[in-house]
Amino acid sequence: MEAEKIELQGPTNKALHEAAEKILIENDLGGYSVPNRDVYPFQWNWDSAFVALGYAQFNLDRAWQELETLFKGQWDDGFLPQIIFWKDNAGYFPGPEIWQTNQQPRTSGISQPPVVATILRQLWEQNQNAEAEEKVKQLIPQVFALHRWFASFRDPLKKGLVVTTHPWETGRDNAPEWDEAAKRVDTSNVTPYVRQDTKHLDKKMRPHKEDYDRFIAMVEFGRDAGWDHKKIIEESPFRVADVGMTMMLLRANRDLLVLAEQFGFEGEAEFLKNQVSLSETGVDYLWNEEKQAFCSRDVISGESTGIISSASFLNFYADVGTAAQRAATEAHIDRIAKVSQFLMPSLAPGEKQFDAMRYWRGPIWAVVNFMIATGCAEQGLETWADKIRNDTAALIKIAGFSEAFNPESGEGTGGTDFSWTAAMWLHWAGK
Ligand code: DGY
Repeated sequence: MEAEKIELQGPTNKALHEAAEKILIENDLGGYSVPNRDVYPFQWNWDSAFVALGYAQFNLDRAWQELETLFKGQWDDGFLPQIIFWKDNAGYFPGPEIWQTNQQPRTSGISQPPVVATILRQLWEQNQNAEAEEKVKQLIPQVFALHRWFASFRDPLKKGLVVTTHPWETGRDNAPEWDEAAKRVDTSNVTPYVRQDTKHLDKKMRPHKEDYDRFIAMVEFGRDAGWDHKKIIEESPFRVADVGMTMMLLRANRDLLVLAEQFGFEGEAEFLKNQVSLSETGVDYLWNEEKQAFCSRDVISGESTGIISSASFLNFYADVGTAAQRAATEAHIDRIAKVSQFLMPSLAPGEKQFDAMRYWRGPIWAVVNFMIATGCAEQGLETWADKIRNDTAALIKIAGFSEAFNPESGEGTGGTDFSWTAAMWLHWAGK
């Protein structure tokens, strides 16, 4: 099925450009962006990285500022939190009083996909001048510290993978890949809580209560461990090698390596080279021979999830896989394009856990499409790269700058006026 068959009655590209800029400007709460003013009223890690790409199209200073503000939340050991709670806002749960990380500024205790090095390289390559050079040189050690943190605290198998201890850390919060592993999480002692997300959004878009209880139990587990990340990675009841974060970190390590070499960070470059080659072989741990796809794997049981999600297509972006593995991945794209009106659903229609409107169980995210299409274009899969970009643009024309999109109807799902969707339009889909 082709996206072109949908009747597009939306605004023109020019109007969308203006609307996208306006969203970013309105979601600026003072040097940092919120993903959405109601549902996510603080600074989120990977959202901000993508937002910088959007800002770079019309306000370069503000793009740099987004990254600089993000790193103001970095901990001394290099950890970069998922959320920085710059200002109080009772409209979000769990807030800083639940996380209790004891940091200034106040932050959550888990991280998010480390895409910032890739964005840093892009910003630099788009605008090479003395001022940008200063900014890159300042950020390289901070981003490097983050990558070293991932190697120290999220790669217990020492294979160059990312083993996550909380679904929220993956950015793909409610993906079915976490379902089995999360059953190990005891929810019997979860402190009673009141959700805020379902006050802003229709329940059908958000995780079920059972999943939410587990998310909160995992937050309480980290809090009770005093956010000691060594203890958490050794003892968490939830430890899953995430195909998404692994592929994103592999690419980010390569991008940071390019910058480190260019700017004379020799020791850092050496470390990054080792990490890249470790991951290039390590990713085989994620290959599922039966499914012929890269899938997340439960590290406690050793079992592959066997779930082909949109993250399974990031091997092109990470430039990994044998010729046969790449051909098999492409065959999956072809198969999914036949059952989904738009690409790339977070889970393909027809799969057991598919849910067209629910968080990460079907809907399409513009940032994931951007990464998949970038990888496809780099690997010579231009037809898929073009289709994924056209579909993303079509979805934005149909539904506006939604958090995500129903892959069958094109309807928006999640929050509206979403920063990273606007940023992706400006940087990529609206071109
Ligand atoms: C949520 O859904 O509240 C998570 O914090 C997203 O990162």
